[in-house]
Amino acid sequence: MEQPVSLAPEQVAFYREKGYLSIPSLMPKDEVERVREIYDRLFAARTGRETGDQFDLAGTDEEGVEAKLPQILGPSRFAPELLEGQYRVNLAHAVKQLLGPEGAVGGDHMIFKPARIGAETPWHQDQAYWDPDYDYNSLSVWIPLQEATVENGCMWFVPGSHRLEIHPHHSIGHDPRVHGLEVEGADVSTAVACPLPPGGATFHHCKTLHYTGANKSDIDRRAYIVGAGVPATKRAIPYDFYWNRIKQTAREARAAGRG
Ligand code: NI
Repeated sequence: MEQPVSLAPEQVAFYREKGYLSIPSLMPKDEVERVREIYDRLFAARTGRETGDQFDLAGTDEEGVEAKLPQILGPSRFAPELLEGQYRVNLAHAVKQLLGPEGAVGGDHMIFKPARIGAETPWHQDQAYWDPDYDYNSLSVWIPLQEATVENGCMWFVPGSHRLEIHPHHSIGHDPRVHGLEVEGADVSTAVACPLPPGGATFHHCKTLHYTGANKSDIDRRAYIVGAGVPATKRAIPYDFYWNRIKQTAREARAAGRG
């Protein structure tokens, strides 16, 4: 293994102030190709479908309906070779730079935006999906496996939004059968797009407002995402994330063996 990619002090300061960071290179080129092969294999094989680990993030996810935003949770459980490579060394190092010595790399997921039909991922804060009993200092590392552009669905962020509270959210289209969430009443007028070359990365805090557009291009947009954080702390008064309590998705039914 080589020396890890190291963030400059200005980049660490930028992340702390703005709640996101974009870097042109995290995963070496040969590893991008290797991960892309694994990625395509897992989606083609519908890996995790029966257990609720593969589902449509933006639709009602019924059998026989083409997914507009297919997602796989925890793909490294199905393909442990994803946990190998220089990019993992780079990731672990960058996470400690951003979160301190307790910062540890966590679980992964894959979000696929098929050419021409891939749906937008509406504005949201990741923490709105999580356990309302806890506060988090966590981040997501978003790695495109081809160029990511405004046209094919690169990441957008609202700088400084990680300093805000969690906004109310609802299921996309106000349909509780849809897993994906959309924020209500947030100001996104200062949003910044972050196009990236293949193997580049964005880092964003779990409260940072973010969005990706629909894929209007002729190439598939593949994003591999890895989480990281320090241990969560229990809140004295839990949040009320009612939008998760009223959700009734086909994915949950499959996970519970009711699908
Ligand atoms: Ni997100």
